[in-house]
Amino acid sequence: MDFQLSEEQLMVRQAARDFAQAELKPGVIERDEHQKFPAEQIKKLGELGFLGMMVSPQYGGSGLDAVSYVLVMEELSKVDASASVVVSVNNSLVCYGLEKYGSDFQKEKYLIPLAKGEVIGAFCLSEPEAGSDATSQHTTAIDMGDHYLINGTKNWITNGGTASTYIVIAQTDPAKKHHGINAFIVEKGMEGFTVGPKENKMGIRGSDTHSLMFSDVKVPKENRIGEDGFGFTFAMKILEGGRIGIAAQALGVASGAYELSVQYAKERQSFGKPIAQHQAIQFKLADMATEIEAARLLCLQAAWLKDNNQPYGNASAMAKLFASQTAMKTTVEAVQIHGGYGYVKEYHVERLMRDAKITQIYEGTSEIQKIVISREALK
Ligand code: CAA
Ligand code: FAD
Repeated sequence: MDFQLSEEQLMVRQAARDFAQAELKPGVIERDEHQKFPAEQIKKLGELGFLGMMVSPQYGGSGLDAVSYVLVMEELSKVDASASVVVSVNNSLVCYGLEKYGSDFQKEKYLIPLAKGEVIGAFCLSEPEAGSDATSQHTTAIDMGDHYLINGTKNWITNGGTASTYIVIAQTDPAKKHHGINAFIVEKGMEGFTVGPKENKMGIRGSDTHSLMFSDVKVPKENRIGEDGFGFTFAMKILEGGRIGIAAQALGVASGAYELSVQYAKERQSFGKPIAQHQAIQFKLADMATEIEAARLLCLQAAWLKDNNQPYGNASAMAKLFASQTAMKTTVEAVQIHGGYGYVKEYHVERLMRDAKITQIYEGTSEIQKIVISREALK
């Protein structure tokens, strides 16, 4: 077993770390406060190749592996989880979905600008009445011969307002249940497609979450991804990789809070000594460090399995379940270690605590990850 990172992986991690400090940290508190999308920062991440990290250079990507992706997601998320979720959705849901399952036409037209970061993508599965229960799609796509007509509403869509390219899951034949679901590429600006107001969220407030409405949106047949009826399998397959990204996001939120806590514990004095010399604080730090390391190993293992063409759905569910629990637990303790200062915005840990919560909800709640893991265990 080799736990060493390659030269290239170390370089990529350092580049992400430097970017997070130089470009994401300034203004992160204000962006959170005002729900401001990190547009400039995302543009720069695109120019540096982080938005199409795992896409082959043939399609405008950086051709890196999933292990590098975990390292980058951790570094960006230590500082700004609102920016890192854009990186996650664009890379592991939209770009991966198009590169792995899209047609040549779809790769040329849509994947290349997405991988280069010239435009941003969104992945639209959830609906007002269908979140965890993802097979019960109400959005319909009627086959009209050379095109489909899409009607319905999608909810909670990350990059909903800023994206240009949307992968939309819809029911084409209700009689076939999940075998009658398809995935379509929808462009911003198509007639009948409207974006609802931005959601006012607890955490990842810089990210851009909207509902989307489709009213007789005419989508050409060449924009359907894969064979007829492939849409639900498509969504499940790409979520396996997406969950590695969100697991690494949770890992980064936890390790960011941990690093701030170590530094603060050495500086803050009580009863004549740094609080780091109280055993109660030392034991909190020991628990944090251990759980973060376990979460990191689960994330890297899931990524390694993906890189080595082995099944990774169960490993990614475990990584997401554990890393998101770790993010929640660690950030709550980080606020505690900071005392009253942890409760105000300047010290960052209260934001990390609010950001941690979403990692237990999106891309499958913790309960859904347990369903995936227990089904594998009982197979
Ligand atoms: N790979 C391939 N196929 C899969 C699969 C996988 N990982 N998981 C399930 N399937 C297939 C099954 O084999 C089955 O097909 P067959 O009937 O042909 O065998 C079909 O899908 C239905 O599967 P189930 O019977 O297991 O379906 P279910 O109704 O019991 O639900 C579920 C399964 C795992 C709970 C699924 O609905 C699920 O993952 N729900 C959570 C949805 C989710 O994660 N949403 C995230 C939205 S994106 C997002 O959130 C982005 C963001 O925030 C940034
Ligand atoms: P529900 O499915 O209604 O679940 C409610 C509760 O019941 C949860 O605790 C759940 O775990 C539990 N539960 C449900 N069914 C079961 C069961 N069978 N067994 C045990 N417990 C169960 N979706 C997208 O498609 N694209 C996006 O880009 C996207 N971005 C998001 C961004 C944000 C900020 C948020 C909040 C959500 C986003 N989502 C997105 C939606 C997200 O994936 C869903 O919110 C999530 O899958 C849960 O669905 P739900 O909200 O409908 O909750």
